Amino acid sequence: MSRQNSLIQTLQGLETEALAAIQAAPEGDALEALRISYLGRKEGRISGILRGLGDLSVEERPSVGAEANRVKEALQEALKAREAEVTSGADEAETSSEDLTLPARHRWRGGVHPVNQVIDDIWRIFQSMGFVRARGPEADTEWYNFLALNTPLDHPAADEQDTLYLKDSVLLRSHTSPVQVRTMEKHEPPIRILAPGMVYRRDSYDATHTPAFAQIEGLVVDEGITFVDLKATLAEFARRFWGEGAKVRFRPSFFPFTEPSAEVDVKRMITRKDGTRGESDWIEIMGAGMVDPNVLENVGYDAERYTGFAFGMGPARIAMLRYGVPDLRLFFQNDVRFLSQFSTGSPP
Ligand code: PHE
Repeated sequence: MSRQNSLIQTLQGLETEALAAIQAAPEGDALEALRISYLGRKEGRISGILRGLGDLSVEERPSVGAEANRVKEALQEALKAREAEVTSGADEAETSSEDLTLPARHRWRGGVHPVNQVIDDIWRIFQSMGFVRARGPEADTEWYNFLALNTPLDHPAADEQDTLYLKDSVLLRSHTSPVQVRTMEKHEPPIRILAPGMVYRRDSYDATHTPAFAQIEGLVVDEGITFVDLKATLAEFARRFWGEGAKVRFRPSFFPFTEPSAEVDVKRMITRKDGTRGESDWIEIMGAGMVDPNVLENVGYDAERYTGFAFGMGPARIAMLRYGVPDLRLFFQNDVRFLSQFSTGSPP
């Protein structure tokens, strides 16, 4: 190859290489460094070739010179264009073209669901009394949901009319009481647990029923636990949750897994529409009782030595009371206009 052609080839190689480097340069300093390395008067590689033109023959000189100048101009052009690109980006960041007097854009932030707020508040009260959190599976067996809880399968609650069976003896738990059994199976007394979770029943979907709902189970087992402990614990809970003046009332009831059993009502201090303070009506809030000795024996406890109490409540009912919500379905529809009323988070 002639000297002339090989120089032209070198120039074109340098051009390709330089153009790519210029395009990739992130900012002004990098561009200046590239300018120096290709076009700098002393060390620039293109300038070097131009300087060496004198060594070429008169015939060779014009074509190499023309090519070198063309490449030099192309690179200068590319450097200028890239320079404009990188600096306009910087300008944008420094002096935004947006109107800075506009109010900040609203950002949606999720809130804690009102039923979960109630669960959290209830949990904090029992936690401060020494309870620990427990959980169990939502799909459970007849043993845990009924039999171990002293509930025969011919009990109306176990009927397919009421309970959602998945297959044979597997079902969607109809209450959180199976967590009692699972906890006692794994741990020796003393037991002090609170177990919130979803439960399922073959129920209608209307203002006061939903086929899926949350429950909170409580269980205490130790030596010497009596009904007095149950009453005192729930009375303290009511005062902490509804405030001073809240009272609980126990009405005799029946659950297969507690004996004796009670339905627990609460009366709380309320502010009426006219601003005066007074007592509310009694409202049923939970089922409770002393753990039936059969249940203790089913998990292998010595029922002569240990006694316990248990309770179960529905946080959605409590949330209805607390917030004056008239229809349970509102808790499931996830209408933001409803939910945002319970949101404590304001936009940042
Ligand atoms: N499991 C009962 C229910 O679902 C509530 C309950 C729990 C009652 C614990 C007594 C003791 O209605």
